[in-house]
Amino acid sequence: MSSFSPRPVPADIAHALALRADRLGGIAARFLYFETVSSTNDVAETLAGNGTAHGTVVVADAQASGRGRMGRTWFSPPGAGLYVSVVLRPEVLQPLALPLSLASSVSLTAGVALAEGIRGASGLPAEIKWPNDLVVERRKLCGILAEASSNSAHALQHIILGYGINIRPAAYPPEIADRATSLESELGRPVDRAAVLAETLGCLAEWLRDTSGDAFGRMLDRWRALSPSSTGARVEVVQPGGGWVAGTTAGIDTDGALLVSVAGEVRRVIAGEVRWL
Ligand code: BTN
Repeated sequence: MSSFSPRPVPADIAHALALRADRLGGIAARFLYFETVSSTNDVAETLAGNGTAHGTVVVADAQASGRGRMGRTWFSPPGAGLYVSVVLRPEVLQPLALPLSLASSVSLTAGVALAEGIRGASGLPAEIKWPNDLVVERRKLCGILAEASSNSAHALQHIILGYGINIRPAAYPPEIADRATSLESELGRPVDRAAVLAETLGCLAEWLRDTSGDAFGRMLDRWRALSPSSTGARVEVVQPGGGWVAGTTAGIDTDGALLVSVAGEVRRVIAGEVRWL
């Protein structure tokens, strides 16, 4: 971590969190705000290793080395976005009966919660693009990076759930400029970043707390409803090893794998990057 000097929580954020205190449960009970860090996921990882409580939230105004999925950089200039990491502890989440790993389930759940949080705070109809990007009109608005840590006996210790939301337009690097967007560019008006932060955390807390009956099935149903491009869209999927498949999306299965129909045969894709054709 570049430095460990949290700042006072900005008044707009403190106010927005207080307004939603009844929905947050343990999420954001400990809240650390930084001007610039290397990566909020790294700061949260260090805190988690030192025993910080489930629900600890780290937010920065900028990241010097923001990380994305598949080894990419997350462009994190000051004042342009929300850079957020949440420490999640399996002993608090574990009552969920899950057909897949806790980290994968948390990732899917985060996509649903953040889409709903963005919709609730801004009115923008964010959609999920598999595996868990949030997009508007095929441009990316938010990325999610869930990182799990295990001990030497391979027992899951904690999950760091990181997310970045583009709030204001910024000078995006050329390789992402035509595929990125922000809440303010889409809406054409200023957006209250504190409300977006507090609402996304509120929705996350609610979805993670839902353990009654078939909570996982409800979450998957909502995921599917928020992800119209997961069915019937022509795509190419570039996989981490370099392989790729091209075909038509056919939904996700109960493990969260993307189903792609290729010449009449349905293939399961468990990791990779979807490109629309
Ligand atoms: C993606 O590639 O889509 C995932 C991007 C995740 C970015 C967020 S910003 C806050 C947290 N800290 C990081 O370094 N990455 C995540």
